Amino acid sequence: MKIGLFYGTTSAATQEVASLIQDNLIDCDIEIHDIYDNNLERMSEFDRLIIGCPTWDIGLLQEDWRSKFGDLNKVDFTGKKVAYFGCGDQNIYSSSFLDAIGILEEKISSLGGMTIGHWPSEGYTHDFSKAEKNGHFVGLGIDNDNEPELTEDRVTEWCKKIYIEFK
Ligand SMILES: Cc1cc2nc3c(=O)[nH]c(=O)nc-3n(C[C@H](O)[C@H](O)[C@H](O)COP(=O)(O)O)c2cc1C
Repeated sequence: MKIGLFYGTTSAATQEVASLIQDNLIDCDIEIHDIYDNNLERMSEFDRLIIGCPTWDIGLLQEDWRSKFGDLNKVDFTGKKVAYFGCGDQNIYSSSFLDAIGILEEKISSLGGMTIGHWPSEGYTHDFSKAEKNGHFVGLGIDNDNEPELTEDRVTEWCKKIYIEFK
């Protein structure tokens, strides 16, 4: 199963989670692209995508995603399955936890993408998130700032789920 994983990062947490995802999906051929030095139009090459974005500056996309956001319009996401993961801090940024993946999911869905890999929001302590709908986040929520000990198990569980949903 070929998958394109596109992520942006500022302080490397999202990059570490991208590697963990690759380690968990051993049966899959995952091409990892840091969007800092990759063109988003390369997303067109994949029927299955994983998108990683931390939230920065109180509810905003990570800076590389911010500067390339408009390029998403050049990709036809029709028929593509898309899974999202985000890094955030549910304590200090409780009212904008994981907002970035909510913003990206809304945009990519409007361009035809089919979201897979929803993740329960139960157990997190945030007040509000643009990524939350009906008791679920639009993708995997990681909080390495407060709960690094939960990251590996969360990634493992989520990878089992998306492996099935990508089929
Ligand atoms: C100035 C600043 C603003 C932040 N704003 C948010 C936010 O609004 N929502 C959130 O969930 N996390 C927020 N965070 C936390 C980061 O998303 C978190 O540290 C994440 O792991 C960083 O990922 P990266 O290392 O891949 O860049 C913020 C962090 C900083 C330093």
